[in-house]
Amino acid sequence: MLPQELIRRKRDGEELSSTQIRRFVAGIADGSIGDGQIGAFAMAVFLNDMSMDECVALTTSIRDSGGTLDWRGLDLPGPVLDKHSTGGVGDLVSLVLGPWIAACGGHVPMISGRGLGHTGGTLDKLESIPGYDITPSNATFRSLVEEVGVAIIGQTGSLATADKRLYGVRDVTATVESIPLIVASILGKKLACGLDALVMDVKVGSGAFMPTPAASRELAEAIVAVAGCAGTPTTALLTDMNQVLASCAGNALEVREAIALLTGEVREGRLFEVSRELACEMLLAGNLADSRAQALDRLDGALRSGAAAERFARMIASLGGPADFLERHDLYLPHAPVTRAVHAPRAGVVQAMDTRALGMAVVELGGGRLQAGAAIDHAVGLSRLAAIGETVDDKRPLALIHARCETDAERASARLREVVTVAPQPVVAPSLIHGVIR
Ligand code: URA
Repeated sequence: MLPQELIRRKRDGEELSSTQIRRFVAGIADGSIGDGQIGAFAMAVFLNDMSMDECVALTTSIRDSGGTLDWRGLDLPGPVLDKHSTGGVGDLVSLVLGPWIAACGGHVPMISGRGLGHTGGTLDKLESIPGYDITPSNATFRSLVEEVGVAIIGQTGSLATADKRLYGVRDVTATVESIPLIVASILGKKLACGLDALVMDVKVGSGAFMPTPAASRELAEAIVAVAGCAGTPTTALLTDMNQVLASCAGNALEVREAIALLTGEVREGRLFEVSRELACEMLLAGNLADSRAQALDRLDGALRSGAAAERFARMIASLGGPADFLERHDLYLPHAPVTRAVHAPRAGVVQAMDTRALGMAVVELGGGRLQAGAAIDHAVGLSRLAAIGETVDDKRPLALIHARCETDAERASARLREVVTVAPQPVVAPSLIHGVIR
């Protein structure tokens, strides 16, 4: 069928067959279908939605549109597992989770992305480590996943090739916010990695990618259903993004917080709890634990013994970072020239925050991009962020701002005072886990 005929069908609300979808996606990957047709298709899907069968066909077609990773020949002793987040602010879970799961016997080939909009990107965080190579050879990537148990690297052009074009066109045709297109895009890339199981972290709240809790839930349910039909068992956790997840946001700052968690310096807080919940699901999904209690025990042991931190250190050294990074990270990570405490206009309890705006404040400090491909400043960001329910006053600031110059720090201070709500009354913090979908 000609591409224009397929677009017309979808435009008129008819259901496409999996063969039609597969041929169309193959045309996206080999360049025989033009950007105009891709945009029209995306808009037709945006307006008319997709059936489950169509969404599974789109997902598997994207998955198969480039190379796929196949771990069977390596005879790995443990399952191949991954986690993917829909993106948040101060969401450094991947840095912690990959090595933690590796230390518990899993193999984690984690292909991560850069910051998008107000959300931070794992690759940007890792690039604050001098020498870290996010594009190693395929052989290095495979041997790390086999021997160290984890490698966090950038997207390789050869995996899920159709998604790169489709996503690029969606980005400029107002068709990003479509559940079947998002599901196929996320899963197409993840399922190309040859996983035994996937755990999704779908964010809910003011800093989430989806605009409402109901939309986040709808996305999570669609992901779990489609991934299951595509043959990869997947669980989704709906986790809170009504406040910054870690106590900081900014690339090098987040690497420091990851180390504090992996070395056992920090054993509490929202980041720790969410990371542990996701890790627990991964161990259960990979049959590395028979029960939640056993999973928690195993995770605890991997932190206490130093095994998780050791996997992190080995991954960094093997990908070109310093061999003594764990011990001397403060020397290696960049520091911003200006550090300034920002206090609330009046003392009180933090009631709420516009997490999206806080993410954008980090972008404006230089920690994220205003234009694709722009250089970023890994040192800047926010630390010691007060949490919802915490009392702030002239001693306890809302946060510390790490900036390139006084003018940037001043602008970020004003923004923080606007977007963090402080009032006298106590408040109950939002729950961390809003639901689990299996
Ligand atoms: N992330 C993706 O990879 N794809 C989408 O469509 C949305 C978020």
